This record gives sequence, structure tokens and C-alpha cells, in this order.
Amino acid sequence: MIIYKNALQLNAHIQNIKTTEKKIGFVPTMGALHDGHLSLIRAASKINAFKVCSIFVNPTQFTDQDDFDRYPKTIEKDIEMLVQAGCDVLFFPPKSEVYTQSFVSKNFPLGSVELVLEGHFRPGHFQGVCQVVDRLLNIVQPDILYLGQKDYQQCMVIQKLLSLTNKESEIELLIEPTQRESDGLALSSRNMRLNDGERKNATAIFQALLYIKDHIDQTSFPILKEKAFMILKEKGFTVDYVEIANRHTLEPALESQEALIALIAARLGNVRLIDNMLMN
Ligand code: PAJ
Repeated sequence: MIIYKNALQLNAHIQNIKTTEKKIGFVPTMGALHDGHLSLIRAASKINAFKVCSIFVNPTQFTDQDDFDRYPKTIEKDIEMLVQAGCDVLFFPPKSEVYTQSFVSKNFPLGSVELVLEGHFRPGHFQGVCQVVDRLLNIVQPDILYLGQKDYQQCMVIQKLLSLTNKESEIELLIEPTQRESDGLALSSRNMRLNDGERKNATAIFQALLYIKDHIDQTSFPILKEKAFMILKEKGFTVDYVEIANRHTLEPALESQEALIALIAARLGNVRLIDNMLMN
């Protein structure tokens, strides 16, 4: 695996690959890698793509300075994992290489998807995500972009970004299933910050999503959400939201309809976790 810290050098390598038949598969991350990230690399391996991963803890998408400061950094282990997974190139830039002196910060008109759920609780978060992803896509110029369903709203936002930047025809977006621990907890870099007790209780998010899924045909949505809320509260969570929404718009759904998704964001101590589950 070749590690680039410099965008121009990486781009030169990419241009070389572009003269071959190989597709370029790109997995953007913020590091502290786990099997969820690696599942995206494996997905790119399946089609024998040239695999590029980036690790950059993007300051512009954090709405909480403390969360940014505490974001886990495990670069040596990350590199080992990427080598094991057969990644071809790691882009590991310093901040000055992503946000260069000539970088002009844009505002992307993302519409309502930016304002609900995560957007409501983390104002400006998705603009930050778009800033960095747009920049990374311009450097890496992938054929396929791999994202995880774990961050469902982020997938919708980035799909919108591709359309706003006229990249839809060049870049295919593939969304891979959420990887979970054996008790159902979605893998997340932030799980490292849970203590043993919190780690045990953290499965309540998955339990609450399962409860909604199992009862969605028999129970009214307000009661379902209240029950999910109680499951979380019992295990010490402070809940930001429990929502049952249309999976194409993320607008709250009032009663059973096609294409529903349940989404949860909740905090245990100072660790904020999110998860979601398709309902039908
Ligand atoms: P990060 O949280 O590191 O996640 C990188 C990618 O891994 C995202 O597409 C995310 O959805 C996926 N992922 C995380 N946990 C997963 C799991 N349990 N199963 C499957 N996929 C999982 O998301 C970001 O970084 C950043 O916002 C980024 C897109 C890199 C922009 O800075």
C-alpha cells in the first residue's frame, strides 16, 4: 500500500490508473478503523477495483469541539488493517492539504435533508461533510464511492452532493450494509470511548430499532417511539431522537407506508451514537 500525504502526488498516481481498465473504488473515512470500514474495502475488492482509502478527521463537520478533540486516532493500527485488507493507496493528508490557502468554502443547497434529524441536532454538520467529500472526490476522481448505511442521512446528503456537482454520471454511489457486534451494536469509531458498563448498555439502540421493526404493523407510531425511548432511557441513554421516516425523504411518517426507516441518535455519557434500520 502506498501512503500519500500530498494531493498532487496522489492525483498523479490516479491519472496513471485511469489509463488502465481498472475501476477506482474510494472509501473516505476519519480513521480509527473497524470492520465496518473494512467491509467497504472488501466490497471494492469484490469487483477488483483499485482501492483508495482516505483518513482525515475533518474539523469542519464537527459541531462540538470536544468531540473533535477526543476523536480516536489509531493511525498505525489503521495502516496495518488497510494493508491486510488489500487497500492499494491510503490518502492521509494534513489539514493544509485538504483546506489549501486557495480553498474556497462553498455552501451546498442540500434542501430539507440537511435540516432534519442529524442536521437539526448538528447544524452545519452536513455542509462540512460536503466540503470535505467534494474536495476528496476532486482529488481521487473515483468511479465508485463506497459509503456505509450506518450513516444513512449522510448517504442521502452525498447523493445530493453528487447531483449538485454534476458528478452523478461519473461516480456510482454504493451503500453497504451496517456491520454490527454480536449483540447488535453498530460498529463505530466512537464505541472505543464507551466504558465497560456503557458498552453493555449500548446494545439498547439496536434493541429499540428491533422493537420498532417487530411491532410496526400492530402499533401506532407515537406509542412505538415512546416504547423505543423507554428502552433507551432504561439503559442510561439521553435521546436526541427516535424517528420513523420515509426512507426517500427522511420526513417523519405518521402511519405505516412503504419504504420506512427508523433512525435513532442517543448519548451515553459524552459519547453520541447513531443507528438506523430499514423497516420494510
Ligand atoms: P467515518 O465515520 O470514519 O465513516 C467512514 C465510512 O464508514 C462511512 O461511509 C460510514 O458510513 C462507514 N461506516 C461506519 N460505520 C460502519 C458500520 N458499522 N458498517 C458499515 N459502514 C460503516 O463518515 C465519515 O467517516 C465522514 O463523515 C466522511 C464521509 C469520511 C467525511 O469526513
